[in-house]
Amino acid sequence: MKFSDRARAVAPFFAMEFGSRAAALEAQGHRVIKLSLGEPDFGAPLPVVNAMQEALRGTAMPYTSALGLPALRQAIARYYDTTYGVQIDPARVVVTAGASAALLLVTAALVNPGDKVLVGDPSYPCNRQFLASFGADVTLVPTDASTRYQVDAALVRQHWSDDVRGLMVATPSNPTGTSVPPEELAAICELARSHGAWRIVDEIYLGLADADAAGRPAQSVLAIDPGAIVINSFSKYFGMTGWRLGWCIAPAEMIPVLERLAQNYYICPSTLAQHAALACFLPETIAICESRREELVARRALVLEGLARIGLPVPVPPDGAFYVYFNVAATGLDSMQFCERALDEVHVALTPGNDFGQCGAAEHVRLSFAASRADLNEALARLQRFMTQFQRA
Ligand SMILES: Cc1ncc(COP(=O)(O)O)c(C=O)c1O
Repeated sequence: MKFSDRARAVAPFFAMEFGSRAAALEAQGHRVIKLSLGEPDFGAPLPVVNAMQEALRGTAMPYTSALGLPALRQAIARYYDTTYGVQIDPARVVVTAGASAALLLVTAALVNPGDKVLVGDPSYPCNRQFLASFGADVTLVPTDASTRYQVDAALVRQHWSDDVRGLMVATPSNPTGTSVPPEELAAICELARSHGAWRIVDEIYLGLADADAAGRPAQSVLAIDPGAIVINSFSKYFGMTGWRLGWCIAPAEMIPVLERLAQNYYICPSTLAQHAALACFLPETIAICESRREELVARRALVLEGLARIGLPVPVPPDGAFYVYFNVAATGLDSMQFCERALDEVHVALTPGNDFGQCGAAEHVRLSFAASRADLNEALARLQRFMTQFQRA
């Protein structure tokens, strides 16, 4: 069978390959610590699970509007008001099957073949795969520790050309866990806006980001650039990865286009998941999510301290997403070799930088600290054992 050029151009995830190898080791009876997964170990908060069971006792689950349940769209809009201080018309909220489907819709709506789009390197690979699938000419902007592995206004200006149609930023970022400072995000968005270019800002980890110095929650881009297109999800802050529910907030003129695309691509997001997600915004659920956020902060401290002790430097400590991006250059191994050997020799699954781009990829490894403290402590002890061979050399 001859597959499309589009399908053949999508690169495989090394993380998945390591996942299969980890599964093979487990089948042989080994205990593998998986720090390769981008999902919290907490699961959905209990009020959400209860709401799902309650919803199941009700009537059948018909399709909802392609844009989502009106009550859920309203609840999301209210959440942006109470949490981020931005007032949004609920009509601008589109509930989707995860952030992934939100990205599918907005890229389908905006990208024409050959459109040039700027994306930071390293970054979450699927986002740029959506762009590329619709024919975008994705320009990866190399970043390093000096800009927290994120694009800043100077880099965007340096890579700008008249044919740039848009830019995509994820803040906080996967794989580095680092955010774009608000003043930098404002300058980046203003630069793009002044050239008539769209801005897609993936805020899937925003709920987990550190508060600012005054204790205020991290800002949504909508407080900075009301015309930006926001992508978000129930997967990370609400711990609902497998429920496949997310949303986007888009300018009013885009909504009928997104509706038409959603109707045709998947009809609507899961009705059951949407009814359950209404419970996400109850005070008791938010309290659970906030205490989980604090737990993740404690895990981050544990991991940063442990990696420093072992001699695996984290050039930029994360301030949002539950990832650290550490440098393995001192071992003499590249990131692929490091991950292969850490898995084979001490059964710790990590993700090589190669999954996230080209820039610095061979020197960096992503560790997800969304696992339990017991697993993190065990993984650090194993990595310490693994590292002794390089310290002796
Ligand atoms: C930056 C980023 N965007 C989007 C997604 C997709 O998330 P969802 O589960 O909501 O589809 C992920 C998942 O890890 C991510 O890291």
